[in-house]
Amino acid sequence: MPAIIMKKGRYMKIYADNAATTKISKAALDTMIKVMEEKYGNPSSLYEIGQNAKNIIEEARETVAAALGASPREIIFTSGGSESDNQAIITAAAIGEKKGKKHIVSTAIEHHAVLHTLNKLKNKGFSITLLPVDNNGLIDLEELKNAITDDTCLVSVMFVNNEIGVIEPIEEIGKICREKGVLFHTDAVQATGHIKIDVGAMNIDMLSLSAHKFHGPKGIGALYFRKGIPLTAIIDGGAQERGKRAGTENVPAIAGMAVALKEATEALESNAEKTIAVRDYIIDGLNKIPYAELNGDRIKRAPSNINFCFEGIEGESLLLLLDDKGISASSGSACTSGSLDPSHVLLAIGRPHEVAHGSLRLSIDENLTKEEADYIIKSVKDTVEYLRNMSPLWRDLVTGKRKHIFEEY
Ligand SMILES: Cc1ncc(COP(=O)(O)O)c(C=O)c1O
Repeated sequence: MPAIIMKKGRYMKIYADNAATTKISKAALDTMIKVMEEKYGNPSSLYEIGQNAKNIIEEARETVAAALGASPREIIFTSGGSESDNQAIITAAAIGEKKGKKHIVSTAIEHHAVLHTLNKLKNKGFSITLLPVDNNGLIDLEELKNAITDDTCLVSVMFVNNEIGVIEPIEEIGKICREKGVLFHTDAVQATGHIKIDVGAMNIDMLSLSAHKFHGPKGIGALYFRKGIPLTAIIDGGAQERGKRAGTENVPAIAGMAVALKEATEALESNAEKTIAVRDYIIDGLNKIPYAELNGDRIKRAPSNINFCFEGIEGESLLLLLDDKGISASSGSACTSGSLDPSHVLLAIGRPHEVAHGSLRLSIDENLTKEEADYIIKSVKDTVEYLRNMSPLWRDLVTGKRKHIFEEY
């Protein structure tokens, strides 16, 4: 293997998997520790220690609502993105069923928290239309309009795709849904804290978010639901969260999430600007690798996301060798890595199976330096070359036994 760049005698350690999860911010962590030590009461208890904890929750609710342009009564706390997605979809299905409307429109590239919930509803007699996406990962608004029928009770389209980073046209989708009188849910787990969200201007009726994607703690999230939407509880028990989500509230995590979201929202523009500059530098660098292609739209793309397919390699081997070089990356979503099936998102944008297996996702943050970006580019380039030299598939491509899928550059 070619020489590895070392820093102060050690390999560089670079965390480039922020779409899987982020490191908790210092302020969020400090807040959580303080809340655990000092505000340990049960928020349902009527005495002072309990009410202190309740106040923390209500302040956090105001912060989360403000970040979305919502009102605090439109926010409930959940265990994260998966639960919020489940609850939003189950709610819309229950509302639809009462009106005899049992059709839902979504997309082929949603997270499994959405797709698996839709599958369950399909088994209960709902019909599901999964809109295709183009080669860049974007849905077609005309196709969306045509897919909505008198039977449609929900449109659920993710804000930012977790694998290829594509940003869907949320404002336009919201407008169409409002005109057609259909509820609109968006899984904004990868967008919140990174891209400006205004639920009013975007006509979003329900929105899912998760703290661990914006430097908050894991296992906590929120669901925004427009005033008047009768949420269906999916966890039954006590009357917490106005009866819409039973269970003693995770007060430290709620407080930590609010601090992290406030920080992320306040620094959103400057973080995005810094991250986009480094992201584009890495994309340009990796584009110089022969027979490699960027996945997802070049422009309508999350600031942090870089996703490439390389011909003639296995993504898993690339990941392990990059790990040896101190780089943490992913070959798809954390949920699908470990399975041998190629990513449903890469297949949906038209990547054939053999290149879908050779994918790499790097999700950076605003702290990544130019020196680290250079290290990433060199490491990926060297490792792809090394793997190709050992690959029988690559030999077939070089000798012309198989046809290349991508252009040389
Ligand atoms: C787009 C998207 N939706 C939902 C989820 C699930 O979120 P959580 O891990 O908080 O349940 C994730 C997590 O990877 C995600 O990326």
